[in-house]
Amino acid sequence: MKRVHNFSAGPATLPLEVLEQAQEELTEYQDTGRSIMELSHRSAHYEEIDKQAKDRLRSLLGLGDKFEIMFLQGGASSQFMMAPYNFLSKDQTADYIDTGRWSDKAIKEAKIFGNVHVPFSSSEGNYDRVPTQEELNFSDNPRYVHFTSNNTVAGTQFPTEPETNGVPLVCDASSDFLSRPIDVDKYGIIYAGAQKNVGPAGVTVVIIRKDFLEQADTENVPTILRYSTHVEKIFNTPPTFNVYMVNLVLKWIEDKGGLSWFKSFNEEKAQKVYDEIDADDFYRGAVEKESRSLMNATFRLPTEELEARFLEEAVEHDLYSLKGHRSVGGIRASIYNACSMGSVDALVDFMSDFRKRNG
Ligand SMILES: Cc1ncc(COP(=O)(O)O)c(C=O)c1O
Repeated sequence: MKRVHNFSAGPATLPLEVLEQAQEELTEYQDTGRSIMELSHRSAHYEEIDKQAKDRLRSLLGLGDKFEIMFLQGGASSQFMMAPYNFLSKDQTADYIDTGRWSDKAIKEAKIFGNVHVPFSSSEGNYDRVPTQEELNFSDNPRYVHFTSNNTVAGTQFPTEPETNGVPLVCDASSDFLSRPIDVDKYGIIYAGAQKNVGPAGVTVVIIRKDFLEQADTENVPTILRYSTHVEKIFNTPPTFNVYMVNLVLKWIEDKGGLSWFKSFNEEKAQKVYDEIDADDFYRGAVEKESRSLMNATFRLPTEELEARFLEEAVEHDLYSLKGHRSVGGIRASIYNACSMGSVDALVDFMSDFRKRNG
């Protein structure tokens, strides 16, 4: 077996231990004589997986009993629609902080349901930063404040939650979910497509605060698109294998030492990459230093020709998926939880060597 250094932005690298356990159990899950994919979602075995995954999320994030957890389909993109569908109407306003491609998509969807006020946008600077607290110009009485905690495309990340003085945050945490501790009491909803930090593509983790859920206005919302439907019970067939995988990843996160451990680990990895970028002016960070993401490090080389050569030679060193998002170009190294220190060291060594030969 040969595994490469995988810097894909998503679906992203998964812990080898998790893949190996899944491989071991693939054709026979526990004593069932069947794969987990062949078991009913109403079976005791699947119910136990669902419960374990929820218990683990509760404990890792410190959710207590104030939050409900759902495993939904439709990707994070469906949440762009589902959150305002449940919580925003024509006579109401929600505030949406615009820090990138995904925020912008969330804003477009929310506008279908109600008024959107944008308290800050970095679109004119090609989304090269997130706001400081002072720059946030909230509306008078927003229903909620939506933000994208990590901007996967640009490579920026909020260092901490924006302060909203009690207005619930609705957060697209797709690309930094469980990468560090968060202040859960500030959130009404946290949603994340699994395919970056917690599992394979196909399941979206949605966490909702109970007292916020009670405020939902869903009279005209189709049953399957109401959060309450999924909170009450497993409503329809969930992506069972994906939830099984998420549960294995959550166990792996626990075994490593939880979110504080990952915070330090992710900081150390990112520091190595950014130190290499900042060593001289051969590499150029694509975003403002204060806004840099610990998950997606984006940078440029002196010319596009050199960037193309960098990507070509990287593959020869088993360094894969380093091409920046098609909308921005350049290089992007996605170094989520499951990206090992060994992969980061290999990348940094290659960057250093490439600079010596081409700088
Ligand atoms: C921050 C963020 N939000 C939303 C999405 C869209 O997620 P999905 O493809 O699961 O709808 C992505 C995907 O890359 C993302 O990075």
